[in-house]
Amino acid sequence: MAKAPPPFPDRHLPDVPVEKIPASIGIIMDGNGRWARRLGWERIKGHTAGIDSVRDTARAAAELGVKELTLYAFSVENWKRPRAEVTYLMRLLRRFAVDERPEIERNGIQFRTLGRIDDLPDSTRNELRESERLSVDNDGMVLRLALNYGGRTELADAARHLAEEAVAGRLDPASIDEAALAGALYDPSMRDVDLVIRTASEMRISNFLLWQISYAELVVTDVLWPEFRRENLFAAIREYAGRERRFGGLVTG
Ligand code: FPP
Repeated sequence: MAKAPPPFPDRHLPDVPVEKIPASIGIIMDGNGRWARRLGWERIKGHTAGIDSVRDTARAAAELGVKELTLYAFSVENWKRPRAEVTYLMRLLRRFAVDERPEIERNGIQFRTLGRIDDLPDSTRNELRESERLSVDNDGMVLRLALNYGGRTELADAARHLAEEAVAGRLDPASIDEAALAGALYDPSMRDVDLVIRTASEMRISNFLLWQISYAELVVTDVLWPEFRRENLFAAIREYAGRERRFGGLVTG
């Protein structure tokens, strides 16, 4: 009798037990500019090339059973880049939102954004919102783009929201605890991140998901984002699976 195909995790990572696959991964995609400059091209070409990396990584993560993949695509600080680069990135994001809809649908992915989306150019924001709307009922992996996102801004926005609720008499300040603050973040359903991957060697968090990465494991690779492929994701997950996570406690046994 023909053997049933193994589930996805076995197919990709036979050496990693299913329970060691991180449920939530965040990626700081870095090195687009350096990759393009190395080839003698304009920096912005690196951003375009980075889309192939997003596609391959998201597909592989979904196949592995990762529940949430959050990509740092544009920070609140990125507005300081040259105007032409910002404009290019906004167009690229709009195109990404439109072009990836069939792939998102095929894989049952829930597409979401995280950040101050209302401040993006109208056409970019509208296409991103449309992709969110179209995929809202999908039940596969959540693919989240952090856009016009800053961890400190998110925490300040959450604090302001709680303060407004308190002033309006809807919230007792004494009841504000970690759960209340987590519930006031941009996406209250977002789970804690298990693994943060940063490409292009930099050992920094750069204001990415400050609340949600409190106990995340960090893996930094020297691979530049446009060269990042599923094999690099698998290598990071292998490294993660070999770590001992203690969450501030002790490991017994
Ligand atoms: C950093 O490279 C990368 C970004 C500014 C994030 C944007 C990522 C993309 C556009 C990839 C495609 C993704 C989507 C979702 C459309 P950098 O320019 O900081 O590189 P450098 O450090 O080498 O200059």
